[in-house]
Amino acid sequence: MTLVLATHNAKKRAELARILAPLGHDLADLPLSDVEETGLIFEENARLKAESGCRETSLPCVGDDSGLCVDALDGAPGVYSARFAGTHGDDAANIAKLLDLMRGIPEERRTARFVCAVCCVFPDGKEITLRAACEGKIAFAPMGTGGFGYDPVFLPDEAPGYTMAQLSPEIKDKLSHRGKALALLAENLRLGDTAMKVIVLPDKEVIGQAAGDLISDLVSQKPDAVLGLATGSSPVPTYQRMAARHREGVSFQKVKTFNLDEYCDLPEAHENSYHTFMREQLFSHIDIQLENTHFLDGNCADEVAESERFSRAIEAAGGIDLQLLGIGSNGHIGFNEPAQAFTGEAFKVALTDSTIKDNSPNFVGSDVPMPRYAMTMGIGQILRARRIVLIATGEAKARAVQAMLEGEVTPQCPASVLQKHPDVTVYLDSAAAALLSDQPVE
Ligand code: F6R
Repeated sequence: MTLVLATHNAKKRAELARILAPLGHDLADLPLSDVEETGLIFEENARLKAESGCRETSLPCVGDDSGLCVDALDGAPGVYSARFAGTHGDDAANIAKLLDLMRGIPEERRTARFVCAVCCVFPDGKEITLRAACEGKIAFAPMGTGGFGYDPVFLPDEAPGYTMAQLSPEIKDKLSHRGKALALLAENLRLGDTAMKVIVLPDKEVIGQAAGDLISDLVSQKPDAVLGLATGSSPVPTYQRMAARHREGVSFQKVKTFNLDEYCDLPEAHENSYHTFMREQLFSHIDIQLENTHFLDGNCADEVAESERFSRAIEAAGGIDLQLLGIGSNGHIGFNEPAQAFTGEAFKVALTDSTIKDNSPNFVGSDVPMPRYAMTMGIGQILRARRIVLIATGEAKARAVQAMLEGEVTPQCPASVLQKHPDVTVYLDSAAAALLSDQPVE
């Protein structure tokens, strides 16, 4: 797709071009008028720039607004980052003012984040707006000469000991707020808007047969298929059907699997771990090779390294052919809980009260309480699966199902992002479909 970039900052422009070009987008270099950043939040400014650029060029236009939010300064400089010291874009003066205000603040209270909102406006009026952040700390003095803005005083958590200005462009693009936001945008541009296929079936057993057959048929056609798997009650009948199909001759010998999530601070072999769940519900009933089954390590010491390891393993397997999902009563997929922004790759998540309430019954009688954290695949990762099958049954899921299928695409209902995927099949029973206004045919 040919995109126009709505920015006059040459360094930012080069960075945006560097990130977007390899993702398959041509960039049209057209002169654009200046836009006054009157928005109070990053998204508003990104949208103002993108709307103006799209109006002037009649091409899809990408605008961004980025800034630094410092906790000890109650989120300042925020949307005023580029003009913090008065003149727009005077990096040295902005940094000097920031360091001055931070004088005497100890390391543990220097937490901050770079935030980036990107907005793509299309000539037909459609728009995609996304936000991503990069967590870190404010250094005591500038270090490094790369990048721009506050880069020399921002120490990203993901690159311990280095400021953003000391990182190579490749590393910066991987962990920066702008890199993450643009990668998500590229993903959305690739996917476009498509309708999900919704099938309502009488009960969870029939759904299990349908989904289990669909997966088993895929494996028959592609014996080395890569499957993304879920835990919880929703996929159990599906796994039973896959086991039955194995007894009838389907071989899973060459199949590779990647599980969506795993609890933190729970031994792998614990009866409540998702490792155990998968062995009991599926792996011990089919001929899969256990070394072909992959999980996130909930007990890893370094979440970022673990996330990268998992992404690399999926990539090395050739990507996920089919991802099986359930949905939380709060709209979560994997353990991507309702949030301010869609996530990208795997990460460590604090589970919400609603998820803890929903899953706690599984820990009754256990020697440990329900964990408060988990490692989960990110939304971007889930969306990269070539095909997605989601199962929801029971009235407790009706609200989340309605929001997923008929609500706006918002990270407040993470499953709603599936509206952007080109190949999603949703299996529902009537109770889970009860609130849909557009009643699908049984
Ligand atoms: C499980 C997972 C979760 C569940 C969801 C629904 O690996 O990632 O998103 O799919 O919480 O759980 P059940 O099916 O137990 O209602």
